[in-house]
Amino acid sequence: MRDDIDSARVNRAIAILGRGRENTLWAASHAKPPPCWTSNLCPWGCAIPSSPSILFFRTMKTHFSFSPAAQIETECMVAVVLDNAEKDRGEKDKTEAFVSADKAVQQAAADLISAGDVSGKNFEVSWLHKPAGIKAKRLLLIGGGKAKKFSASELRKLAGAAVRTLKPRSLRSLAFVLPEEIPASDAVEAVIEGAIIGNFDPDTYKSDRKDQSVESLTVVASNQASGDSASLQRALDEARILAESQNFTRELVNEPSNRMTPTILANRAQEMAKATGLKCEVYGADKIKELKMGAFWGVAQGSDEPPALIVMRYEPAGAPEKPVLGLVGKGVTFDTGGISIKPADNMEKMKYDMAGGATMIGAMRAIALLKPNVKVIGIVCATENMPSGKAQKPGDIQTAMSGKTIEIINTDAEGRLVLADGLCYARQLGCTHLIDAATLTGAVVVALGYANAGIFASDDDMYQRFAKALDKAGEKMWRLPLDDEYKDQIKSNIADIMNTGGRWGGAITAAMFLKEFAEDTPWIHLDIAGTAWLEDNKAWIAKGPSGIAVRSLVEFAREFGSS
Ligand code: BES
Ligand code: MN
Ligand code: ZN
Repeated sequence: MRDDIDSARVNRAIAILGRGRENTLWAASHAKPPPCWTSNLCPWGCAIPSSPSILFFRTMKTHFSFSPAAQIETECMVAVVLDNAEKDRGEKDKTEAFVSADKAVQQAAADLISAGDVSGKNFEVSWLHKPAGIKAKRLLLIGGGKAKKFSASELRKLAGAAVRTLKPRSLRSLAFVLPEEIPASDAVEAVIEGAIIGNFDPDTYKSDRKDQSVESLTVVASNQASGDSASLQRALDEARILAESQNFTRELVNEPSNRMTPTILANRAQEMAKATGLKCEVYGADKIKELKMGAFWGVAQGSDEPPALIVMRYEPAGAPEKPVLGLVGKGVTFDTGGISIKPADNMEKMKYDMAGGATMIGAMRAIALLKPNVKVIGIVCATENMPSGKAQKPGDIQTAMSGKTIEIINTDAEGRLVLADGLCYARQLGCTHLIDAATLTGAVVVALGYANAGIFASDDDMYQRFAKALDKAGEKMWRLPLDDEYKDQIKSNIADIMNTGGRWGGAITAAMFLKEFAEDTPWIHLDIAGTAWLEDNKAWIAKGPSGIAVRSLVEFAREFGSS
């Protein structure tokens, strides 16, 4: 615990922001907040509600240094090693590793390199203590793979890996030398995002938890030929917002269902909205019934926990009336399967079935702070899916908000039900373009595994624009089809449509179901069932909630606002 922050304030911050982050928060009274952080919510309990100096929380202090790397005093300087060798599988002595940094750093590492002890292969880590000729206490060399394939996406991961290498070693600060191979502002973004994302660990409830977070990152930009300092600072601030919003999503997803009910999720959305100046309305069962959201209510009716329909609005002054982007998230805070109950094995994982909703809340946070010139409405349909005497049953027929009737074949296909009404409501609120995100099907994991999320698009132009955002954000999704042929699988004998389409193409038939409710509005569906939760630690990111899609959605909204 930092000793310059009094414990009453810290406790208040924990109450508002949740456990596990108290050690990584900074009170604004100790530093000047960046201009983006003019929050009017003060987790530290400061009295003045609208002063920009009140409070912001940050997960890591970030600075620039334009001094020569040799002059920088730091616990740990990090530099990237790349491999220039042409052949993929040459003999050992054919690697041509080089340090992508200025002469002084290269010279400090010269012996290691010439001895052939460093190959530059991906995530290879080499330490040098008291490196000769530079002021840093340590030099950490981190391998970035083949120089030819090196990109901002690789750099993002390297920054995460560097932070994750430092965390268990009681090192709390680092200086990262920007490699020259990546244009300066892209490199700044990649390093800041990677470092902040890498700094997150999901061990919130360990009672012996020691906060190992890295507290301070210096981005060493002395070597950069391009980019003035003002534009680099902007890149840094924006990257912080993106990464911290992604971590906010990860925190929400990490919570177990007894600590992340629909009501709590709605409260967290409202706190975020208050702090960032978004409008946020939360509706309960009455409004859901009043809106005739029979599909959403069909799921919610089985639970003792009240559902929440969360509506966040970003309406910047001066933005055109149209387009209006609608972001709709599946917020199932626990999915037992309902009466079609799931097997006990792995059921605990279904606490992350609200990841799509949390994705939209995190994306709205970033959008509110980055202020693209476009209207965005975020909608989260939050509920539990429980078996009970009040629960819907297989064979039941629900009338969705759009008027379509749905035969419930399997109560475990609940995500598409809540989204059906969420999409319809988004259209009613005037959205001209829709994107939904959901941990929707096990079938998408069968199809694509863990490396790619599934993406479906009813509109090719919108897809192309989203693909650009994916590329910018460094996130991977693979497009799956929405051909009319698949519609036969969800035809019902008794109603307009069934909520399941049989064994084959399960991710596609789920998407076809949603398409019935997006109707003719250009729409993208992201099935993140296989990617929202990482089963294993990676060099650059902890296992647990990934925060997939937040950055891409925000990049999409920013692009959308500028064209
Ligand atoms: N939440 C699940 C999908 C899921 C599976 C998410 C694995 C994360 C990991 C969804 O509600 C579900 O149960 N889908 C069923 C649909 C089936 C009954 C048609 C599935 O995929 O088995
Ligand atoms: Mn389910
Ligand atoms: Zn589900």
